[in-house]
Amino acid sequence: MIKIDNKKKVFVLDGKNYSYIIYVNEAGTLQFVYYGKKVDGDDYLTSVYAKTLAPEPNGFNIDNAFNGMPSEYAFFGKGDYRAPSTLFVREDGFRASRFVYKSHEVVDGAPDFGSLPHARRGGKTLCIVLKDELSDMEISLNYTVFDDSDVIVRNAILRNCGKNKVRLNKAFSFCLELPDAQYDIMRLQGRWAQERMPEVTPIGKGTVRVDSSQGGSSHAMNPFAALLRKTCTETSGECIGVNLIYSGSFAITAEASCFGALRLQGGINDLNFEWILDGGEKFVTPQAALCYSAEGLGGMSREFADFYRNYIIDPARAYMRRPIVINNWEATYFNFNRDKLFDIIDAAAPLGIDTFVLDDGWFGKRDDDKSGLGDWFVNEKKLEGGLKGVAEHCAEKGMKFGLWFEPEMVNEDSDLYRAHPDFAIGKRGVTPSRQRNQLILDFSRKDVVDYIYDAVSKVLKSCNISYVKWDMNRFMTEFYSEKLPYERQGELAHRYILGVYDLAHRLTSAFPNVFFEGCAGGGGRFDGGMLYYFSQIWTSDDTDAFERTKIQWGTSMCYPVSAMSCHVSACPNHQTQRITPLATRGLIASLGATGYELDLTKLDDCEKEEIKRQIASYKNIDELVLRGDLYRLSSPFNSNYFCEMLVSKDKSQAYVAGERIHGVPCDLNYIIKLKGLDPNKRYTVKELGITASGKTLENAGLLLPRLPDFGAWTWNITECK
Ligand code: GLA
Repeated sequence: MIKIDNKKKVFVLDGKNYSYIIYVNEAGTLQFVYYGKKVDGDDYLTSVYAKTLAPEPNGFNIDNAFNGMPSEYAFFGKGDYRAPSTLFVREDGFRASRFVYKSHEVVDGAPDFGSLPHARRGGKTLCIVLKDELSDMEISLNYTVFDDSDVIVRNAILRNCGKNKVRLNKAFSFCLELPDAQYDIMRLQGRWAQERMPEVTPIGKGTVRVDSSQGGSSHAMNPFAALLRKTCTETSGECIGVNLIYSGSFAITAEASCFGALRLQGGINDLNFEWILDGGEKFVTPQAALCYSAEGLGGMSREFADFYRNYIIDPARAYMRRPIVINNWEATYFNFNRDKLFDIIDAAAPLGIDTFVLDDGWFGKRDDDKSGLGDWFVNEKKLEGGLKGVAEHCAEKGMKFGLWFEPEMVNEDSDLYRAHPDFAIGKRGVTPSRQRNQLILDFSRKDVVDYIYDAVSKVLKSCNISYVKWDMNRFMTEFYSEKLPYERQGELAHRYILGVYDLAHRLTSAFPNVFFEGCAGGGGRFDGGMLYYFSQIWTSDDTDAFERTKIQWGTSMCYPVSAMSCHVSACPNHQTQRITPLATRGLIASLGATGYELDLTKLDDCEKEEIKRQIASYKNIDELVLRGDLYRLSSPFNSNYFCEMLVSKDKSQAYVAGERIHGVPCDLNYIIKLKGLDPNKRYTVKELGITASGKTLENAGLLLPRLPDFGAWTWNITECK
């Protein structure tokens, strides 16, 4: 709900449990007042409270734009020496700005930004237009609120209303200026096969920067940060999370000023970013989703999960039962032929697996990672009978067929590159930096995107393909497009991502019956922008059942478990060499969109029975994965137990899954207190043969079984009717 005092220009935005208040101050600038638990928009908040937030330091009066000014979108060069939200240069070189209120309107729903990922619907959107007193620039700030959510969606649109061009050097999506900096900051940092490890550090004075300049959101840092009050825990206390709905280079900064305020802002990374706005043009920044939680990190995660499922992920897919996949990558790598694939399919069908996904190596000349990318036509020499033969074999066995692509990439050893070397990003004559022997196609060019669209469409039309794994295995270097003029080269990285979105938009619209999964060398581009197009994403190339507890725990901070592709793989694990029980691997994979990634033909009967059992059990709980609330009960980072729980919205069913990390002789008692149940309902815990009230299960908890190394357990909990 949005309440506006039109006379005093006070805007009160109310979501499910929070209020967000801003107002136009005496100096005409848009100022932050309050963000937190619900309040009434009482007069004193703007007449007294807001003024103490922006104290005039003794002797200073620099147009109300000094280091203590709580700005809703910070401008540059008028006495506020902290990082601005935007920095632009006019034709005469002048770069100071001072944005004041011009107008506002409230519209139903959420703005539609075409193929740039955005909240698909909304309750209401407040749009406030600010005007620069020193140039012809205007900025529209959008705030979309939802009655059923604690997420508020923000972005900024910069408009050049003059005739002369302006060069944007920075155009962030949002700025949130909190009155104090008594927070720690959480980021999800990592590397290949170790994505999204939560790290919490104090803020201190100065700037904490969470960013990627790689041309993709990256393995190293997710476009997410959370501010945690010192009292914030998993289950209680206040935190504010921000998640950018964007897949390119990004930055989120938290800057504590000398006057004690904290400026949290973010958007497209300003490093290596420039954008020319000709007269009359506008620049739309990606959306940022902000979440206020008074119920700790768990509360924040559940709000983000609901937000993604209800407002970002394709509504036709968000709650759709997910295909249970067998993927051949770790079974065969590049070394397969038709017979080998048929054997895997034959072994999969009786186990209850419903989709076979053929991974890398089916196209062009591709027997290793040195060649073939870009040549999207089947290699019939390697795959006798082509894709059609595999698709038909799947159909005979009652299974569906899926295919791996890496549409954004090219090998120099490919027909595509030999014909069109200029299609690749980089400067001719400069040796390219290769990662995995490949280059990136210049998706800032429409002709390149068109070419790939045609090539991929042709394959998708060639036989019955119902699943696509869209991979992306390197990040950007030698940022240069042969087709962009000198002054627009700084636009490349963002234009590239817009090209990726354009292709994803066109392919997902043209093939509505194909289920798309995202991937980027594992989970190197696991973000809200990708989730807009791909309903689930390959979480990590690390499929080890212990490592996955940490990766999935971190990923769940701001993404729903149903968005995580989680596969059972072989042991010793290919990434860590660790041996874990097959039951444990199945159980950890059941806390997401489950699947398999191993050579099924090498399993003995016992192992096949175990997989059959896993799939049958998964079918009893997959509604909880799709629709339930996640409670993280015991952290693999600071305890010997990993344990998570999914609870149905009506609290009639729950699923607890856990893993003991190391077996310890004479181990101490360890009690898990369940969460999220209805205290007054009675439940049965199937595996323990007990019944108890929600109150007892939450307060007294359950004693954990004493298991060996990497042993796992489940508790299936149902309401007694
Ligand atoms: C990436 C993916 C893997 C697999 C390989 C194929 O590493 O993350 O799952 O598809 O590429 O080359």
